[in-house]
Amino acid sequence: MRVKKAVIPAAGFGTRFLPATKVVPKELLPIVDKPTIQYIMEEVASSGIEEVILITGREKGSIEDHFDTSSELENHLRMKGRPDLLKIVQDISEMVTLVSVRQKEPLGLGHAILCAKKVVGKEPFAVLLGDDLIDAKIPCIHQMMEIYQDMEGALLAIQKVPRTKTHLYGIIKGKKVKDRVYSVEEMVEKPEKGRSPSNLAIIGRYILPPRIFELLEKVKPDQRGEIQLTDGLKELNKEIPIYGYEFIGDRYDAGDKLGYLQANLSFGLKHPEIGPKLKRHLKDLSLRFR
Ligand code: UTP
Repeated sequence: MRVKKAVIPAAGFGTRFLPATKVVPKELLPIVDKPTIQYIMEEVASSGIEEVILITGREKGSIEDHFDTSSELENHLRMKGRPDLLKIVQDISEMVTLVSVRQKEPLGLGHAILCAKKVVGKEPFAVLLGDDLIDAKIPCIHQMMEIYQDMEGALLAIQKVPRTKTHLYGIIKGKKVKDRVYSVEEMVEKPEKGRSPSNLAIIGRYILPPRIFELLEKVKPDQRGEIQLTDGLKELNKEIPIYGYEFIGDRYDAGDKLGYLQANLSFGLKHPEIGPKLKRHLKDLSLRFR
């Protein structure tokens, strides 16, 4: 079945990025000159997904504004004779049809996805985390939609991570069924050091069947009071197969200070306007640190 809708959860507090995220949502912090969530919206739009369900929360209204029309700004750019910037601004609001749903309290990723139940309805849908950036020639979610065409069940993006970092991720235990595709046997959320079943980490892209909503409704909150998506996925795996797909591309956790800076450097070096100057600056810096 074709995937036509995508859910982008963006209602978290972003505590790892305080104080920057006190009033500015982390999803709007720029990677060079574009907010993280705009890269994600572009990934969705260029993959042929028509409708996005944005999960927002308190202090997150500016995300909706970013994807709305801005007649004052557009008139100003028209008057100033800046058709180049006008096009950039207009393109943002025309990318996809956006429906926004408010998560009243950030009660976890599983709960955020559950907020999209009514709008998604009874079809498989994509999930892209609002702070997970993937730089790829073929957009990651598009790669996954291609794989999903020939399968039933659920599909998770996975990536090999160093063994020293497995405790930071949801990790799968799986059997390779074809190139880059694993059948998931087990999922462990943030395994203790030395107890990880593999180094295949779940990354913020999913294609899920609507059945996940009913299962998430039954998931009990964890010790922190959060409803975890992984718990819903574990229940789902008892009923239908779940696969992990090792995507092709570079991933940055833009909700984490280091990941955010790494993304800015990588995208900055490729940026036509600032790339060469940034490269020179990095060379100067590295000379200073010798
Ligand atoms: P994170 O765990 O990275 O978000 O969730 P967080 O809770 O904001 O992070 P920290 O640990 O406090 O820094 C991944 C994505 O899911 C969204 C977040 O906005 C982020 O884009 N999310 C998370 C929700 O929409 N609702 C939630 O209850 C939790």
